[in-house]
Amino acid sequence: MQAIVVTDQAAGRPGMQLVERPEPEVAINDVIVEVHASAMTGDELSWPSTWTDRAGRDRTPSIPGHELAGIVTAIGYGTTGLSVGQRVFGLTDWYRDGTLAEYVAVEARNLAPLPADVDFTDGAALVMPGLTAWQGLFDHGRLRAGQTVLVHGAAGVVGSMAAQLARAAGAYVIGTGRASGRQAALDFGAQEYVDLEKDKLQDVGNVDLVFDIFGGDIANQSTGLIKPGGTLVTIAGPIDGRPANGSVIDFVVVADPNQLNEVVQRFREGRLRTNTGNISSLRDAVATYNSAQVSGKTILRVRP
Ligand SMILES: NC(=O)c1ccc[n+]([C@@H]2O[C@H](COP(=O)([O-])OP(=O)(O)OC[C@H]3O[C@@H](n4cnc5c(N)ncnc54)[C@H](OP(=O)(O)O)[C@@H]3O)[C@@H](O)[C@H]2O)c1
Repeated sequence: MQAIVVTDQAAGRPGMQLVERPEPEVAINDVIVEVHASAMTGDELSWPSTWTDRAGRDRTPSIPGHELAGIVTAIGYGTTGLSVGQRVFGLTDWYRDGTLAEYVAVEARNLAPLPADVDFTDGAALVMPGLTAWQGLFDHGRLRAGQTVLVHGAAGVVGSMAAQLARAAGAYVIGTGRASGRQAALDFGAQEYVDLEKDKLQDVGNVDLVFDIFGGDIANQSTGLIKPGGTLVTIAGPIDGRPANGSVIDFVVVADPNQLNEVVQRFREGRLRTNTGNISSLRDAVATYNSAQVSGKTILRVRP
């Protein structure tokens, strides 16, 4: 099969190559998915899981990308809940070969059925931002109607999903980002916008929840905005700051079929939009990933 591989961490994205790789074999509890659309997260090539297995052993050449939509072509022994020919979408294991390929082996529990009326491109675009925003807002952030949430990077891939889901849950949503992101953030549901290059974060007032994607200074400053009992959730790794009377949770998104069902249902009903940028083929993927990035998720349409 054709796949994008990386072999040299120092080479970054220019080190990505389109090569022939053996098709994955089906193992216990796995399915093989014929990938129709897939995606990777921007800084995935800096994650240790791209380069080593769980025991720290070199696993290169490795195939990046962990978001996919496709069709099940084989089922491993003991695998239940999915069938050959079924349309699926989901998030694959960080430590295994990924989705920038024609086929991928993935545990069935990482996948949810993709309804027939949802295009593979949209399915792939919903996975990572949908799960991350859902888990940050509701599992970790415990967001409730009537609360105020500050969503950093609200025009970006994850932030735009968080803004939409938070608004739909009845929260008051304040988005942040660059001046150029204002209109997009408002269109995705933010009711106010903070231009981080010009406005003062402190002027926002107190909030129940901060959904952080930046880490560093912005996240640390944001801890000062948290109301007593409130939370800052971050997807950028551990931060130093702590709210005076609140908590900080850094988390990494996990696969969750029920949450994928929730997200795709909202998409079908027109209550949730994807934030898609470039759409490329597997053949053009390396060039696309090495060209100037447009905003929104880059989706590889692996099969036309
Ligand atoms: N822990 C997890 O489970 C998890 C899951 C998913 C993603 N992530 C991480 O989350 C981060 C965000 O991902 P994403 O896909 O949402 O990225 P993205 O689409 O690039 O969104 C980032 C947004 O923030 C804006 N921005 C960036 N730097 C800024 C700055 N200094 N000041 C103001 N605005 C700024 C960007 O504007 P421009 O486009 O104009 O730069 C963009 O609108 C990435 O680091 C990703 O790896 C973590």
